[in-house]
Amino acid sequence: MTDCLSPEAKDDLLSRGYSRRSLGRVAALMSAGMAVRSLVGRAEASPLTALPPGDVTKMVRIGSNECWTGPFPAAAKAGAAAVFEGNRYDPSGHTREDLIRTAAKIDNVPENCILPWGGSSDPLCRTIVTFCSPTRGLVTADPSYEAGWVASEWLKIPLAKVPLDASNGYKTDVKAMLKANPNAGVYYICSPNNPTGTITPLEDIRWLVANKPKDSIVLVDEAYIHFSDAPSAVSLVAEGRDVVVLRTFSKMFAMAGLRLGFSMAPPALHEKMMRYDGVNQTHMLPIPAVICGTKSLTMASDIAARRREMDAARAMTYEHLQKKGISFIPSDANMFVIDWKRPAAPIKDAFLKENIIIGRSWPIWPNASRITVGSMSDMKKFCAALDRIIG
Ligand SMILES: Cc1ncc(COP(=O)(O)O)c(C=O)c1O
Repeated sequence: MTDCLSPEAKDDLLSRGYSRRSLGRVAALMSAGMAVRSLVGRAEASPLTALPPGDVTKMVRIGSNECWTGPFPAAAKAGAAAVFEGNRYDPSGHTREDLIRTAAKIDNVPENCILPWGGSSDPLCRTIVTFCSPTRGLVTADPSYEAGWVASEWLKIPLAKVPLDASNGYKTDVKAMLKANPNAGVYYICSPNNPTGTITPLEDIRWLVANKPKDSIVLVDEAYIHFSDAPSAVSLVAEGRDVVVLRTFSKMFAMAGLRLGFSMAPPALHEKMMRYDGVNQTHMLPIPAVICGTKSLTMASDIAARRREMDAARAMTYEHLQKKGISFIPSDANMFVIDWKRPAAPIKDAFLKENIIIGRSWPIWPNASRITVGSMSDMKKFCAALDRIIG
């Protein structure tokens, strides 16, 4: 299993405190990507396996933070055309380069700072493998996206989970994160945060970058940024700071099943991340997905229109909840958290009986559920079912 790790990669891991036994776990993580959740027996945490039995195509699916509709039609058309040229490894000879060039222009970052991937889960886990170790832990907010938690458990990396700041709109508390482990390898910030949709101000991210220990990384996961006004942390990448920014096409661009994402980081950091194999993972990408994604990035007015559609469905749902006196955390993304003030698990089951799949709860908030904002029609069905369930 460890054969796919180069001798240099093995030496590096051992010198950073990983045990010989854990080398196989690193190799498994780097080849399994997000499937590592099933490696640690947490299949229910995977958005790909969390679906209930039965014909889910007939259900309202507001549980996995997917987009309620498909990719932008013009982008899907461009991707579909590439299916007919699927006999070629690379029909134009520069498909991947086009994506990099387009993303670099839009995000105002040098092209050599961008690496594409089949989604953002690989570079998320890869950053943790590269900059954390049994002696340099991982720090995240709580609740936040759990992929890093699972990877740290798998690799026996110390994990500090810092509660969101309830006195400050449930924001990620960067000062408390640094205090929780002043010598961590990675500080993970999801902004907007999954599940709360709360934004970490860029000043706070800058503060953490300026005050973090040497050789550590601030990993900023911007999976939901297109649904918000949050300024990207990519300016820090362009300045050459110790920052890795992640983007996915699974959310705004509605390409979760097509698998595409990219990481942005100073080239020296990416070079380190590439020590653990990764050549296939970044180069052998599905061409239709890359073409669809590249086109999507350029469709600014469609992005804005889709965001307005989400805003309207979310506002309608908020209004309904407010009328019923149900508390929720206002969000800057296509999801939000409802506090039921009683265990969320039976409520989730009751929605399922109504053919509505709502999102999961986090252990720190067992009385809360994450609700993905679907289409207006999805959210009207959610509100009607809520009236039947809660009364
Ligand atoms: C915050 C965040 N990061 C990363 C991912 C992984 O997405 P993907 O691997 O589809 O790019 C998700 C998926 O839900 C997410 O919510």
